Amino acid sequence: MVQPFLGGIFGLLCTHVLHGHFNRLEDFLMGELQRFKFDVLIIGAGGAGLRAAIEASAKGVTVGVICRSLLGKAHTVMAEGGVAAALGNVDSRDGWETHFSDTMRGGQYLNNWRMAELHAKEAPERVRELEAWGALFDRTKDGRILQRNFGGHKYPRLAHVGDRTGLEMIRTLQDHGIHQGIDFHQEITVVSLLKDKDRVVGALAYDRERGRFRIYQARSVIIATGGMGKIYKITSNSWDCTGSGISLAYHAGARLIDMEFIQFHPTGMVWPPSVRGLLITEGVRGEGGVLRNSEGKRFMFDDIPDLYKNQTSSDEEEGWRYTQGDPNAKRPPELLTRDHVARCIYREVKAGRGSPHGGVFLDIAWIKEKMKDAEAHIKKKLPSMYHQFKELAGIDITKEPMEVGPTTHYIMGGVKVDADSQRTDVPGLYAAGECAAGLHGANRLGGNSLSDLLVFGQRAGAHAAEEASRTKDGKIDEAEVAAMIEWAEKPFERYDRGKSTNPFQVQNELQDVMQDLVGIVRNEEGLARAIESLSELQEKAEAAGCGGHREFNPGWHTALELKHMLTVAEAIAKAAKERKESRGGHCRLDYTEKNEELGSVNIAVKKGSDGKMEVEVIPEVPLRDDLKKVIVKME
Ligand code: FUM
Repeated sequence: MVQPFLGGIFGLLCTHVLHGHFNRLEDFLMGELQRFKFDVLIIGAGGAGLRAAIEASAKGVTVGVICRSLLGKAHTVMAEGGVAAALGNVDSRDGWETHFSDTMRGGQYLNNWRMAELHAKEAPERVRELEAWGALFDRTKDGRILQRNFGGHKYPRLAHVGDRTGLEMIRTLQDHGIHQGIDFHQEITVVSLLKDKDRVVGALAYDRERGRFRIYQARSVIIATGGMGKIYKITSNSWDCTGSGISLAYHAGARLIDMEFIQFHPTGMVWPPSVRGLLITEGVRGEGGVLRNSEGKRFMFDDIPDLYKNQTSSDEEEGWRYTQGDPNAKRPPELLTRDHVARCIYREVKAGRGSPHGGVFLDIAWIKEKMKDAEAHIKKKLPSMYHQFKELAGIDITKEPMEVGPTTHYIMGGVKVDADSQRTDVPGLYAAGECAAGLHGANRLGGNSLSDLLVFGQRAGAHAAEEASRTKDGKIDEAEVAAMIEWAEKPFERYDRGKSTNPFQVQNELQDVMQDLVGIVRNEEGLARAIESLSELQEKAEAAGCGGHREFNPGWHTALELKHMLTVAEAIAKAAKERKESRGGHCRLDYTEKNEELGSVNIAVKKGSDGKMEVEVIPEVPLRDDLKKVIVKME
């Protein structure tokens, strides 16, 4: 009797191990699911997630932070040139009103003006606080935080640490946060948010190392997962930027807005192919770098948009003086907003005036004509750029120009949030940082992302903690968990049956569709084709399979991640088709002008009751009168 019984158990175990259900005997004996409970759960450990965690923890609630990668490796470290805050250290004329009005102008007035107001008012305090927590900024001669010029900012406004500002910010937040009793969970991927009726009460996740499922229960949840660059072929973003948080919120019922507005940073590396898209900081242009085409011409002088005519110089010498901090000089056209600069580069390349590898030339070496110690200056102000080009492309940027071209960098759209609290449409759910929409409107100014993370991370943390402390625990729906786990294990079954698609191949095809049809320029026919292709890719994604087991299995991760990437791609393509005009990061070849009527509406997408994506046009809240006056005054 005993032998057949033991044999049965052994057989069962083998079946489960073979199919990836239990990776180790220990998992089987301990029970498959691990459970964690916090007052506030934060998904994402970049700038917004860490700042939110610090704030929530300071309010006395328990805080858990889920990192997709290892702590300290979030994509925020790739924000190089600086954090925008009107400290007025280099030009005392700067203040919140100018920062507010620059942000609104850069966003083509489609911004959530309340977010732009809070951001401009609170960024200086958030930066000083970072300094007090140990961030090492570059300094003015009299020891204050040094600020540099960036596109679309009227005055030198970017507090920076060479070209490694994001890295220093993460280091500081992490060092500070680690002593607050925050519980960090590394290399964890969230599969789905869990709801108790309408309310988000936690998340189902798995650890990448063992592939074991985990339930996180919380009274409030903050999504701070960053962007979605990896749905495009050419991007500055790292592997984990798949738009997962935006998709998680969408599937939990949250509304997304402004998804059509994608920022193509004008300067990514174009050569060699292995590093195509890697960011070259706008700080290069902020320090005096200029853009030239294959004829040696500074083509940016050819096209200065009306909105910026009064702030931009057509004189090379004056532009140079501006970058060196002359308060009476106007900016060079290389420091116009990113949407515009990227399109000008695109135009030069299309017209056959590009560099050998399909970009244009960015030259900082030329400043030798102006400065005795130019070489040392470049190495001091742009150390990462110097090493990046020397090591990856064999180019010495103190002597030769770089080849650069647009790269997918940022999404202005994302989860719709309340400006003051960062609460989404779904009870219990908050969003902060790149995955939340509103602050940047149709185009983000460089450096406003890091200040966004600090300002709205802090606000999300405070409000989520406050809500958690007055809310009872929700109930985890175990049937929902079981169904999601079953879904998540399907790629192994499909592979075993020998009838599956390759998830990496599906991602590659998705990247081609987005790059070619929903890229820097778009049109009706291309967008319609993209939507059709995305629905075909959806079918392929539902058939994606993977072999092996669940421990560190990139094929499995990609198979699951396709759901998020395709959701976000569909939202971008559908919103882009709906907005029949060109504005900011959305350029339509068939509607090349701005349409005034569309200047006061957001395109929103929402999951309908039939599970299909619905597109709606929602009017913006009219700008408050006092803020209207600020904009008029500043102009
Ligand atoms: O160019 C940069 O350094 C990027 C900064 C940003 O996107 O804010």
